[in-house]
Amino acid sequence: MRIAVYPGSFDPVTLGHGDIIERTAKMFDKVIIGVLNNKAKSPLFSVEERVNMLREVTAGLPNVEVQSFEGLLIDFLRKNSARVIVRGLRAITDFEYELQMAQTNRVIAPEIDTIFLTTNLRYSYLSSSIVKEIAEYHGDISEFLHPMIAEKVREKLACRQQ
Ligand code: PNS
Repeated sequence: MRIAVYPGSFDPVTLGHGDIIERTAKMFDKVIIGVLNNKAKSPLFSVEERVNMLREVTAGLPNVEVQSFEGLLIDFLRKNSARVIVRGLRAITDFEYELQMAQTNRVIAPEIDTIFLTTNLRYSYLSSSIVKEIAEYHGDISEFLHPMIAEKVREKLACRQQ
């Protein structure tokens, strides 16, 4: 069985992530979305909320599952018998960080490969951070997020601003 892991923070999942997930699901028997539970960061959404949102937007993809993980990504892959990490590349600015992660992971886990999918041009500028910034200033985020996720971002920011 060919199993790939698509890891990230997904705070929140954007249409750019969704595009990578759909394309990856066509290439592998099983895709596990690994949501990083990074205690050092203070995300907008808890890890449980991020996992649930991803489960809702990927409900139509039977070979996709969502799990959270802590610690090293390669340990998460080994635990799930996965051999491939999938990452999206938006622009040259992503390249240096992505190459560093891929090379480091390959040194510590030579059996695991990272593959990169170029992001759909439509979403090549998109990031979760920019979407959150627009939402914070009450801008329109409907172009960038699944309608259900956009609603959750608005609700969360409204709670925080009270
Ligand atoms: O969406 P992000 O925040 O760009 O994803 C980064 C992620 C989760 C892929 C990366 O931070 C990661 O793999 N963290 C787990 C810790 C780890 O394995 N670090 C070593 C990577 S070289």
